[in-house]
Amino acid sequence: MAKDDKATRLEAIRQKILDDDPTPELRQGATQLVFADGNPDAEIVFIGEAPGKNEDLQGKPFVGAAGKFLDQMLEMIGLQRKDIYITNIVKYRPPNNRDPLPEEKSAFLPYLESQLEVMQPLVTVTLGRHSLNCFLPDLQISQVHGQPKRFQLHFHGRSGDHGVDAVQGDDEHLTEAYESTKKEGAESATRQRAANAGRVAGSAGKQDSMSMVLLPLFHPAAALYNGAMKQTLIDDFALIPAIIEKIKTS
Ligand code: URA
Repeated sequence: MAKDDKATRLEAIRQKILDDDPTPELRQGATQLVFADGNPDAEIVFIGEAPGKNEDLQGKPFVGAAGKFLDQMLEMIGLQRKDIYITNIVKYRPPNNRDPLPEEKSAFLPYLESQLEVMQPLVTVTLGRHSLNCFLPDLQISQVHGQPKRFQLHFHGRSGDHGVDAVQGDDEHLTEAYESTKKEGAESATRQRAANAGRVAGSAGKQDSMSMVLLPLFHPAAALYNGAMKQTLIDDFALIPAIIEKIKTS
């Protein structure tokens, strides 16, 4: 899909959130919608939780302290914001930065899935437990951080089922580490990405599911003031180039 095409389709998703108004209460308490930032043609997508105060004021995700830490880690692996695409599950700031409610995450999930369908990322990096558990609800961030997972994302917006808890496929093997699925001779991520893209292009975006490689990381805001977690996050982050390389060459 051409870059402009992706930008246009992403803009249509942003507009649809404004039109649908999926969480009127959150919208009323927020300054503005915080949709996404970065490059629509990026191979890596980062997904956080919800905007905080600075994001709400500026209309961009991860522009506060956690965002600055994220930028430092990106720089460490030779990347900048313009090389990635970044968004949140919930697109309006929850009052007083409280955790997003299950129904708020459910309300925004179809739009997040649509963003991923357009982006077709090589790797999707989830930041924190909310983001991980949106896709793989049975996994614990403390146990799986830094371990890439391949799984099949079933689009809830299509089926009419917007439940977050039902996202994971019923096959246990879908949550296995990317390495082990590869050994079993699973279709390579690069080929699956191409196949996904073909299905999107060929079916006017009406695919039911897509294959994804997800990398769960700790949330930079949680790690910022916790020395041990901070170092773990930095170490996990450093794995990103090798993971991408492995996917590309598999
Ligand atoms: N934390 C998030 O999860 N998202 C942001 O955009 C900022 C902080």
